[in-house]
Amino acid sequence: MQLTGTLRIDELTSDERAIYASLKPERLPDHVAIIMDGNGRWAGRRSLKRFLGHQQGAKSVQLVTETASRIGLPWLTLYAFSLENSLRRPKAEVNFLMRLLKSYLESNVQRMMDNNVRIRYIGRTHDLPSEVQDKMRWAEETTAHNTGTTLTLALNYGARSEMVDAFRGLAAEMRLKHIAPERITEEDIHRHLYTAHMPDPDLLIRTSGEMRVSNYLLWQIAYAEIYVTDRLWPDFRGIHLLEAIAAFQQRERRFGGIGESCGEVEEDPERIKLAAG
Ligand code: FPP
Repeated sequence: MQLTGTLRIDELTSDERAIYASLKPERLPDHVAIIMDGNGRWAGRRSLKRFLGHQQGAKSVQLVTETASRIGLPWLTLYAFSLENSLRRPKAEVNFLMRLLKSYLESNVQRMMDNNVRIRYIGRTHDLPSEVQDKMRWAEETTAHNTGTTLTLALNYGARSEMVDAFRGLAAEMRLKHIAPERITEEDIHRHLYTAHMPDPDLLIRTSGEMRVSNYLLWQIAYAEIYVTDRLWPDFRGIHLLEAIAAFQQRERRFGGIGESCGEVEEDPERIKLAAG
């Protein structure tokens, strides 16, 4: 991991510190992305209204971000509001989520400053209500010079629409510069994604047990390790982030190559008779 800001391990709780001590510092992820799911179920299990689940979920956002900043995680990207959420949820819930985002920013920017956290956004944020956009801009500008964790909220986000936007941008650039289609590279596509300025996620966490990626960072998670926990997002804390990182460190990442535990490499594979054919 490329450490960011100053490590503040002494600010972890003693339980968090115990897990952190078991981690290999040289194998910490650079970028953790999270699909925050289960706010509604959390509320339902307590016979509460769904909005109270979202409210509790907003607390988890802040607490998990603070733990991320204490261990020097450079990039944390949270799926806070999908394009599908805005189209398929009742208007009252969408309005509540917008008000919650605004009040989350108002109340937490000072804590972001205290934790050296910089906030950014990805998604079609220009379609959000203008007063929400104003608050988002204010929070982004206020925290712009912080050098610790970059917290990116995916808002009005969908991976397929991100790709549409990227391809539109790339097509316009190609027309302008007279570039032939055969010359398009993966790097060209990467440059036009909302995430062009950050590394791809190493670890994707999903809470509440669903085995889906739900149109989240589809290009960027090509080689991410996926960690699914049954824990509902409003119950997810920094310690659970550290547990996910510990599980990540047990994985062998191969990026399409062969791993250390995959047997000896035959010096002359030509000598091996194929069993079939
Ligand atoms: C899924 O719960 C969660 C979301 C709709 C997105 C996450 C939103 C928050 C954590 C709250 C606000 C965030 C910020 C940054 C202020 P769900 O309603 O789909 O849960 P369910 O599947 O149990 O119904």
